[in-house]
Amino acid sequence: EKGGYPSFMEKEIHDQPAAVADTLLGRADAQGRLTLDELRIDAAELKDVTKIIVLACGTSAYAGSVAKYAIEHWCRIPVEVELSHEFRYRDPIVDANTLIVSISQSGETMDTLMAVRYAKEQGAKTLSICNTNGSTIPRESDAVLYTHAGPEIAVASTKAFLAQITATYLLGLYLAQLRGNLFTGQIKDILADLHEIPAQIQEVLDREGEIKDLARSMSDAESVLFLGRHVGYPVAMEGALKLKEIAYIHAEGFAAGELKHGPIALIDDGQPVFVVVPSPRGRHSLHSKVVSNIQEVRARGAKTLVIAEAGDDAVRDYAEFVFYVPQTPTLLMPLLATVPLQIFACELATAKGFDVDQPRNLAKSVTVE
Ligand code: M6R
Repeated sequence: EKGGYPSFMEKEIHDQPAAVADTLLGRADAQGRLTLDELRIDAAELKDVTKIIVLACGTSAYAGSVAKYAIEHWCRIPVEVELSHEFRYRDPIVDANTLIVSISQSGETMDTLMAVRYAKEQGAKTLSICNTNGSTIPRESDAVLYTHAGPEIAVASTKAFLAQITATYLLGLYLAQLRGNLFTGQIKDILADLHEIPAQIQEVLDREGEIKDLARSMSDAESVLFLGRHVGYPVAMEGALKLKEIAYIHAEGFAAGELKHGPIALIDDGQPVFVVVPSPRGRHSLHSKVVSNIQEVRARGAKTLVIAEAGDDAVRDYAEFVFYVPQTPTLLMPLLATVPLQIFACELATAKGFDVDQPRNLAKSVTVE
Protein backbone atom coordinates (compact mmCIF):
# COMPACT_ATOMS: atom_id res chain seq x y z
CA GLU A 1 0.00 0.00 0.00
CA LYS A 2 3.07 2.24 0.18
CA GLY A 3 3.24 1.85 -3.59
CA GLY A 4 6.80 0.59 -3.48
CA TYR A 5 8.04 3.58 -1.44
CA PRO A 6 9.83 3.06 1.89
CA SER A 7 7.31 5.25 3.74
CA PHE A 8 3.83 6.67 3.37
CA MET A 9 5.32 10.13 3.50
CA GLU A 10 7.50 9.46 0.51
CA LYS A 11 4.59 7.92 -1.35
CA GLU A 12 2.37 10.88 -0.52
CA ILE A 13 5.01 13.36 -1.71
CA HIS A 14 4.94 11.47 -5.00
CA ASP A 15 1.13 11.47 -5.06
CA GLN A 16 1.13 15.26 -5.32
CA PRO A 17 0.73 15.64 -9.08
CA ALA A 18 -2.44 13.55 -8.79
CA ALA A 19 -3.60 15.33 -5.62
CA VAL A 20 -3.53 18.71 -7.39
CA ALA A 21 -4.94 17.37 -10.66
CA ASP A 22 -7.81 15.60 -8.90
CA THR A 23 -8.62 18.67 -6.82
CA LEU A 24 -8.86 20.72 -10.03
CA LEU A 25 -10.92 18.11 -11.86
CA GLY A 26 -14.41 19.07 -12.98
CA ARG A 27 -14.43 22.54 -11.42
CA ALA A 28 -14.79 24.60 -14.62
CA ASP A 29 -16.66 24.36 -17.90
CA ALA A 30 -15.10 24.67 -21.36
CA GLN A 31 -15.52 28.46 -21.27
CA GLY A 32 -13.43 28.60 -18.11
CA ARG A 33 -16.41 29.37 -15.86
CA LEU A 34 -16.00 27.86 -12.43
CA THR A 35 -18.83 25.69 -11.18
CA LEU A 36 -18.36 24.83 -7.53
CA ASP A 37 -21.62 22.89 -7.30
CA GLU A 38 -20.90 21.21 -3.99
CA LEU A 39 -20.52 24.56 -2.19
CA ARG A 40 -24.13 24.70 -0.96
CA ILE A 41 -23.92 28.44 -0.17
CA ASP A 42 -26.08 30.63 -2.31
CA ALA A 43 -24.16 32.65 -4.90
CA ALA A 44 -26.03 35.78 -3.80
CA GLU A 45 -24.88 35.30 -0.21
CA LEU A 46 -21.29 34.81 -1.28
CA LYS A 47 -21.43 38.02 -3.27
CA ASP A 48 -22.18 39.96 -0.11
CA VAL A 49 -19.18 38.68 1.83
CA THR A 50 -17.19 41.60 3.23
CA LYS A 51 -14.52 39.67 5.10
CA ILE A 52 -13.01 36.21 5.09
CA ILE A 53 -11.44 34.60 8.14
CA VAL A 54 -9.44 31.44 7.56
CA LEU A 55 -9.30 29.12 10.57
CA ALA A 56 -6.87 26.21 10.71
CA CYS A 57 -3.90 24.72 12.56
CA GLY A 58 -0.41 23.62 11.57
CA THR A 59 0.20 22.98 7.93
CA SER A 60 -3.42 23.74 7.07
CA ALA A 61 -2.95 27.22 8.52
CA TYR A 62 0.01 27.76 6.19
CA ALA A 63 -2.27 26.85 3.28
CA GLY A 64 -4.54 29.58 4.63
CA SER A 65 -1.67 32.07 4.65
CA VAL A 66 -0.99 31.32 0.99
CA ALA A 67 -4.70 31.75 0.29
CA LYS A 68 -4.70 35.23 1.82
CA TYR A 69 -2.32 36.54 -0.84
CA ALA A 70 -4.29 35.03 -3.70
CA ILE A 71 -7.81 35.84 -2.53
CA GLU A 72 -7.05 39.42 -1.56
CA HIS A 73 -5.30 39.97 -4.88
CA TRP A 74 -8.02 38.43 -7.02
CA CYS A 75 -11.16 39.35 -5.06
CA ARG A 76 -10.25 42.48 -3.10
CA ILE A 77 -11.89 40.97 0.00
CA PRO A 78 -9.91 41.33 3.24
CA VAL A 79 -8.71 37.94 4.45
CA GLU A 80 -7.51 37.23 7.99
CA VAL A 81 -5.78 33.98 8.84
CA GLU A 82 -6.08 32.84 12.40
CA LEU A 83 -4.99 29.76 14.26
CA SER A 84 -8.22 28.07 15.34
CA HIS A 85 -7.17 27.82 18.97
CA GLU A 86 -6.48 31.56 19.18
CA PHE A 87 -9.67 32.67 17.47
CA ARG A 88 -12.16 32.15 20.26
CA TYR A 89 -10.07 33.84 22.87
CA ARG A 90 -9.80 37.24 21.26
CA ASP A 91 -13.41 38.38 20.98
CA PRO A 92 -13.33 38.22 17.17
CA ILE A 93 -15.51 40.49 15.05
CA VAL A 94 -17.77 38.38 12.85
CA ASP A 95 -21.20 38.94 11.38
CA ALA A 96 -23.50 37.54 8.70
CA ASN A 97 -21.28 38.93 5.95
CA THR A 98 -18.19 37.21 7.33
CA LEU A 99 -17.19 34.03 5.55
CA ILE A 100 -15.29 31.62 7.75
CA VAL A 101 -13.13 29.29 5.68
CA SER A 102 -11.87 26.43 7.80
CA ILE A 103 -9.10 24.27 6.39
CA SER A 104 -8.57 20.78 7.76
CA GLN A 105 -7.19 17.63 6.21
CA SER A 106 -8.88 15.34 8.70
CA GLY A 107 -12.01 17.35 9.33
CA GLU A 108 -11.72 16.25 12.96
CA THR A 109 -9.25 18.72 14.48
CA MET A 110 -10.96 19.73 17.71
CA ASP A 111 -9.48 23.23 17.85
CA THR A 112 -10.78 23.99 14.38
CA LEU A 113 -14.16 22.38 15.02
CA MET A 114 -14.68 24.46 18.16
CA ALA A 115 -13.67 27.64 16.35
CA VAL A 116 -16.12 26.91 13.53
CA ARG A 117 -18.91 26.27 16.03
CA TYR A 118 -18.12 29.52 17.78
CA ALA A 119 -18.15 31.47 14.50
CA LYS A 120 -21.51 29.92 13.58
CA GLU A 121 -22.97 30.99 16.90
CA GLN A 122 -21.85 34.51 16.10
CA GLY A 123 -23.82 34.36 12.85
CA ALA A 124 -21.00 33.87 10.32
CA LYS A 125 -21.25 31.71 7.21
CA THR A 126 -18.93 28.72 7.39
CA LEU A 127 -17.19 26.95 4.56
CA SER A 128 -14.97 23.92 5.10
CA ILE A 129 -12.04 22.93 2.90
CA CYS A 130 -11.50 19.33 3.86
CA ASN A 131 -9.89 16.13 2.61
CA THR A 132 -12.07 13.64 4.47
CA ASN A 133 -15.55 12.98 3.17
CA GLY A 134 -18.28 13.14 5.76
CA SER A 135 -16.02 14.16 8.64
CA THR A 136 -17.28 16.42 11.41
CA ILE A 137 -16.11 19.87 10.30
CA PRO A 138 -17.65 19.72 6.80
CA ARG A 139 -20.82 18.20 8.27
CA GLU A 140 -21.19 21.13 10.65
CA SER A 141 -20.36 23.79 8.06
CA ASP A 142 -22.76 25.58 5.74
CA ALA A 143 -20.64 24.72 2.73
CA VAL A 144 -17.82 22.41 1.75
CA LEU A 145 -15.12 22.29 -0.87
CA TYR A 146 -13.42 18.92 -0.78
CA THR A 147 -9.78 18.46 -1.63
CA HIS A 148 -9.17 15.24 -3.54
CA ALA A 149 -5.73 14.28 -2.27
CA GLY A 150 -6.81 10.78 -1.25
CA PRO A 151 -6.20 9.43 2.25
CA GLU A 152 -3.13 10.91 3.91
CA ILE A 153 -1.53 8.42 6.30
CA ALA A 154 1.82 9.98 7.26
CA VAL A 155 1.54 12.30 10.24
CA ALA A 156 3.43 15.02 8.37
CA SER A 157 1.04 16.56 5.88
CA THR A 158 2.27 16.86 2.29
CA LYS A 159 -0.21 16.15 -0.48
CA ALA A 160 -3.12 17.51 1.56
CA PHE A 161 -1.25 20.83 1.81
CA LEU A 162 -0.90 21.22 -1.95
CA ALA A 163 -4.51 20.14 -2.45
CA GLN A 164 -5.66 22.69 0.15
CA ILE A 165 -3.79 25.49 -1.57
CA THR A 166 -5.33 24.41 -4.87
CA ALA A 167 -8.81 24.46 -3.35
CA THR A 168 -8.33 27.95 -1.92
CA TYR A 169 -7.28 29.18 -5.38
CA LEU A 170 -10.48 27.69 -6.82
CA LEU A 171 -12.49 29.41 -4.12
CA GLY A 172 -10.72 32.71 -4.79
CA LEU A 173 -11.31 32.47 -8.52
CA TYR A 174 -14.94 31.53 -7.95
CA LEU A 175 -15.51 34.54 -5.71
CA ALA A 176 -13.75 36.77 -8.24
CA GLN A 177 -16.04 35.42 -10.94
CA LEU A 178 -19.19 35.96 -8.86
CA ARG A 179 -18.21 39.45 -7.86
CA GLY A 180 -16.84 40.44 -11.22
CA ASN A 181 -13.33 41.19 -9.94
CA LEU A 182 -11.69 39.26 -12.76
CA PHE A 183 -12.69 38.86 -16.40
CA THR A 184 -13.48 35.36 -17.65
CA GLY A 185 -10.33 35.48 -19.78
CA GLN A 186 -8.17 36.23 -16.75
CA ILE A 187 -9.71 33.37 -14.81
CA LYS A 188 -9.17 31.09 -17.78
CA ASP A 189 -5.48 32.05 -17.92
CA ILE A 190 -4.98 31.36 -14.21
CA LEU A 191 -6.77 28.02 -14.53
CA ALA A 192 -4.49 27.17 -17.44
CA ASP A 193 -1.45 27.91 -15.26
CA LEU A 194 -2.96 25.75 -12.51
CA HIS A 195 -3.49 22.88 -14.92
CA GLU A 196 0.24 22.98 -15.74
CA ILE A 197 1.13 22.45 -12.08
CA PRO A 198 0.78 18.64 -11.83
CA ALA A 199 3.30 18.06 -14.64
CA GLN A 200 5.56 20.71 -13.13
CA ILE A 201 5.47 18.98 -9.71
CA GLN A 202 6.43 15.81 -11.54
CA GLU A 203 9.44 17.62 -13.03
CA VAL A 204 10.52 18.54 -9.49
CA LEU A 205 10.04 14.94 -8.33
CA ASP A 206 12.07 13.67 -11.26
CA ARG A 207 15.01 15.72 -9.95
CA GLU A 208 14.57 14.78 -6.28
CA GLY A 209 18.06 13.24 -6.24
CA GLU A 210 19.57 16.75 -6.11
CA ILE A 211 17.76 17.61 -2.90
CA LYS A 212 18.17 14.15 -1.38
CA ASP A 213 21.95 14.39 -1.79
CA LEU A 214 21.89 17.73 -0.02
CA ALA A 215 19.74 16.34 2.81
CA ARG A 216 22.03 13.38 3.41
CA SER A 217 25.05 15.68 3.52
CA MET A 218 23.34 17.70 6.26
CA SER A 219 22.21 14.96 8.60
CA ASP A 220 24.21 16.39 11.48
CA ALA A 221 22.77 19.91 11.17
CA GLU A 222 21.55 21.24 14.51
CA SER A 223 19.45 24.09 13.24
CA VAL A 224 18.10 25.14 9.85
CA LEU A 225 16.46 28.46 9.05
CA PHE A 226 13.97 29.16 6.25
CA LEU A 227 13.28 32.57 4.74
CA GLY A 228 10.63 33.76 2.33
CA ARG A 229 8.63 36.82 1.38
CA HIS A 230 5.05 37.11 0.13
CA VAL A 231 3.79 33.57 -0.62
CA GLY A 232 7.33 32.34 0.00
CA TYR A 233 6.85 33.17 3.68
CA PRO A 234 4.27 30.45 4.42
CA VAL A 235 6.36 28.08 2.27
CA ALA A 236 9.32 28.83 4.55
CA MET A 237 7.17 28.19 7.63
CA GLU A 238 6.01 24.89 6.18
CA GLY A 239 9.58 23.83 5.32
CA ALA A 240 10.59 24.50 8.92
CA LEU A 241 7.59 22.66 10.36
CA LYS A 242 8.33 19.55 8.28
CA LEU A 243 11.89 19.47 9.57
CA LYS A 244 10.84 19.90 13.21
CA GLU A 245 8.15 17.26 12.99
CA ILE A 246 10.02 14.37 11.45
CA ALA A 247 13.75 15.11 11.80
CA TYR A 248 13.56 16.70 15.29
CA ILE A 249 15.88 19.46 14.18
CA HIS A 250 15.49 22.99 15.41
CA ALA A 251 14.03 24.89 12.47
CA GLU A 252 12.49 28.33 12.12
CA GLY A 253 10.71 30.02 9.27
CA PHE A 254 10.92 33.81 8.97
CA ALA A 255 9.55 36.50 6.75
CA ALA A 256 12.78 37.56 5.05
CA GLY A 257 12.04 41.21 5.79
CA GLU A 258 12.17 40.46 9.53
CA LEU A 259 15.83 39.46 9.36
CA LYS A 260 17.19 42.85 10.29
CA HIS A 261 14.62 43.16 13.07
CA GLY A 262 16.21 40.31 15.01
CA PRO A 263 16.75 36.90 13.46
CA ILE A 264 19.88 37.91 11.57
CA ALA A 265 21.65 37.76 14.95
CA LEU A 266 21.28 33.98 14.75
CA ILE A 267 23.45 33.74 11.66
CA ASP A 268 27.02 32.68 12.12
CA ASP A 269 29.50 30.55 10.28
CA GLY A 270 27.97 27.60 8.50
CA GLN A 271 24.34 28.21 9.61
CA PRO A 272 22.18 26.59 6.90
CA VAL A 273 19.51 28.97 5.57
CA PHE A 274 16.95 28.03 2.94
CA VAL A 275 15.66 30.97 0.95
CA VAL A 276 12.53 30.77 -1.21
CA VAL A 277 12.98 33.24 -4.06
CA PRO A 278 9.96 34.59 -5.97
CA SER A 279 9.89 34.67 -9.75
CA PRO A 280 12.13 37.35 -11.34
CA ARG A 281 9.39 37.68 -13.98
CA GLY A 282 6.99 38.95 -11.31
CA ARG A 283 7.28 42.13 -9.29
CA HIS A 284 10.89 43.18 -9.66
CA SER A 285 11.29 44.73 -6.22
CA LEU A 286 10.06 41.55 -4.53
CA HIS A 287 12.64 39.43 -6.31
CA SER A 288 15.51 41.83 -5.76
CA LYS A 289 14.70 42.23 -2.04
CA VAL A 290 14.94 38.49 -1.52
CA VAL A 291 18.20 38.30 -3.47
CA SER A 292 19.58 41.01 -1.15
CA ASN A 293 18.45 38.92 1.84
CA ILE A 294 20.49 35.99 0.51
CA GLN A 295 23.52 38.27 0.25
CA GLU A 296 22.97 39.60 3.78
CA VAL A 297 22.95 36.18 5.43
CA ARG A 298 25.76 34.93 3.26
CA ALA A 299 27.96 37.86 4.26
CA ARG A 300 27.53 36.68 7.85
CA GLY A 301 28.65 33.15 7.11
CA ALA A 302 25.36 31.38 6.31
CA LYS A 303 25.29 28.38 4.04
CA THR A 304 22.66 29.54 1.55
CA LEU A 305 20.31 26.95 0.07
CA VAL A 306 18.10 28.55 -2.54
CA ILE A 307 14.81 27.51 -4.10
CA ALA A 308 14.36 29.65 -7.21
CA GLU A 309 12.56 29.69 -10.52
CA ALA A 310 14.18 28.10 -13.57
CA GLY A 311 16.14 30.75 -15.45
CA ASP A 312 16.84 32.89 -12.39
CA ASP A 313 20.60 33.20 -12.82
CA ALA A 314 20.87 36.11 -10.37
CA VAL A 315 20.82 33.77 -7.37
CA ARG A 316 23.68 31.56 -8.49
CA ASP A 317 26.47 33.83 -7.28
CA TYR A 318 25.15 33.89 -3.72
CA ALA A 319 24.02 30.32 -3.27
CA GLU A 320 25.84 27.29 -1.97
CA PHE A 321 23.08 25.20 -3.47
CA VAL A 322 20.23 26.07 -5.86
CA PHE A 323 17.20 24.01 -6.67
CA TYR A 324 15.25 25.34 -9.64
CA VAL A 325 11.50 24.85 -9.91
CA PRO A 326 9.59 25.32 -13.20
CA GLN A 327 8.21 28.74 -14.12
CA THR A 328 4.77 29.72 -12.85
CA PRO A 329 3.23 33.00 -11.64
CA THR A 330 4.44 33.94 -8.15
CA LEU A 331 1.03 33.36 -6.57
CA LEU A 332 1.09 29.72 -7.67
CA MET A 333 4.73 29.13 -6.75
CA PRO A 334 4.00 27.52 -3.35
CA LEU A 335 2.65 24.48 -5.21
CA LEU A 336 6.15 23.92 -6.59
CA ALA A 337 8.54 25.47 -4.07
CA THR A 338 7.19 23.42 -1.14
CA VAL A 339 8.02 20.09 -2.76
CA PRO A 340 11.83 20.21 -2.47
CA LEU A 341 11.48 21.24 1.19
CA GLN A 342 9.25 18.21 1.89
CA ILE A 343 11.76 15.93 0.17
CA PHE A 344 14.58 17.53 2.15
CA ALA A 345 12.90 16.87 5.51
CA CYS A 346 11.85 13.35 4.58
CA GLU A 347 15.30 12.36 3.35
CA LEU A 348 17.13 13.95 6.26
CA ALA A 349 14.87 12.23 8.81
CA THR A 350 15.33 8.93 6.98
CA ALA A 351 19.10 9.38 6.99
CA LYS A 352 18.92 9.83 10.76
CA GLY A 353 17.04 6.57 11.01
CA PHE A 354 13.71 8.02 12.18
CA ASP A 355 10.25 6.70 11.38
CA VAL A 356 9.02 9.51 9.16
CA ASP A 357 5.42 8.29 9.16
CA GLN A 358 5.02 8.18 12.94
CA PRO A 359 7.11 10.94 14.51
CA ARG A 360 7.38 10.97 18.26
CA ASN A 361 4.78 12.84 20.33
CA LEU A 362 2.49 13.52 17.37
CA ALA A 363 -0.88 12.17 16.23
CA LYS A 364 -2.31 12.40 12.72
CA SER A 365 -5.41 14.13 13.87
CA VAL A 366 -5.56 16.13 17.01
CA THR A 367 -8.99 15.46 18.43
CA VAL A 368 -8.46 17.13 21.77
CA GLU A 369 -8.28 20.85 22.48
O1 M6R B 1 -6.31 17.62 9.95
P1 M6R B 1 -5.89 19.07 10.02
O2 M6R B 1 -5.53 19.62 8.70
O3 M6R B 1 -6.93 19.91 10.73
O4 M6R B 1 -4.60 19.08 10.92
C1 M6R B 1 -3.98 20.29 11.28
C2 M6R B 1 -2.60 20.05 11.86
O5 M6R B 1 -2.69 19.25 13.02
C3 M6R B 1 -1.67 19.38 10.86
O6 M6R B 1 -1.55 20.11 9.68
C4 M6R B 1 -0.27 19.18 11.46
O7 M6R B 1 0.35 20.42 11.66
C5 M6R B 1 0.57 18.26 10.57
N1 M6R B 1 1.17 17.24 11.36
C6 M6R B 1 1.60 19.00 9.78
O8 M6R B 1 2.43 18.17 9.06
